[in-house]
Amino acid sequence: MILYFSGTGNSRLVAEKLAGLTKDQIHNLEQGAPPKMQDGETLILVAPLYFWALPSLVLSFLKKHQELNRKELHVVMTCGGALGAGASFITRQLRGLGFQEVYVHALIMTTNYIPLHRVQRKEVAEKAVQAALNRLPEIAEDIRQKRGAPTSSFLAKALPIYQGMYDRARQTRRFYATNKCVGCGKCERDCPSQAIHLINGYPRWDKPQCALCLRCLHRCPQAAIEHGKGTVGKERYHPEKFLLENARIKSSQKGI
Ligand SMILES: Cc1cc2nc3c(=O)[nH]c(=O)nc-3n(C[C@H](O)[C@H](O)[C@H](O)COP(=O)(O)O)c2cc1C
Ligand code: SF4
Ligand code: SF4
Repeated sequence: MILYFSGTGNSRLVAEKLAGLTKDQIHNLEQGAPPKMQDGETLILVAPLYFWALPSLVLSFLKKHQELNRKELHVVMTCGGALGAGASFITRQLRGLGFQEVYVHALIMTTNYIPLHRVQRKEVAEKAVQAALNRLPEIAEDIRQKRGAPTSSFLAKALPIYQGMYDRARQTRRFYATNKCVGCGKCERDCPSQAIHLINGYPRWDKPQCALCLRCLHRCPQAAIEHGKGTVGKERYHPEKFLLENARIKSSQKGI
């Protein structure tokens, strides 16, 4: 089974393409409990890399669903190119959740983290995503052969530092809506952390923390959402603009 989370579309695209190759069933973890796995079925997780580690809501999903087979787990992480100690951190996180054998497969896509970076030019992003998709048959074979990226227990020791950075970054107080907001409610409906509620027709981030997937910011039809000063004036990430037939991303759909 391929279990996936995707904030803005990259990981969903990878999960769907990989399922086409492996013929696995596919489950978006935003849709709740996973279907029952067959005996001997391989569990594959596709998710974006956040601060060199897994998104908070992926970890809480795995913690909650103890029924998932803990013997072997393959993780296909999509990222913007800064892999860092990702394989080592993710392995440590998942071993801590009881998974005995963890295999991490890294796929460089293109970044959606505009609080720090900028969205890549269309041609550059398109090329990077196509190169990542071209690697999927090789990854499917690595999964079959139980081969993953090398990890280091020495590097993994730095995980708490990065978890602390992510925990600080995902405080919602940096989000706000500008006067371009028309009160359509899309951000409230789409948020996987249920952290946004419209009050008097205007979004409020009323949970102290969220997953920081940036879906609200990138998918607001008015580009009215900002995160501190770092996102002001920057282009939003709309993969459907450059993935064309690869992406079946509907901006109105909950659970990208
Ligand atoms: C909160 C956050 C942290 C991120 N941290 C990293 C990172 O450490 N390294 C990296 O290469 N990309 C990082 N990225 C970029 C994403 O991993 C990348 O764009 C990913 O493919 C997005 O997947 P999605 O479209 O399925 O959400 C980060 C993105 C977000 C939103
Ligand atoms: S999606 Fe954008 S326009 Fe719609 S309510 Fe949210 S901030 Fe306002
Ligand atoms: S508030 Fe925005 S960034 Fe945070 S989880 Fe919800 S959609 Fe993602």
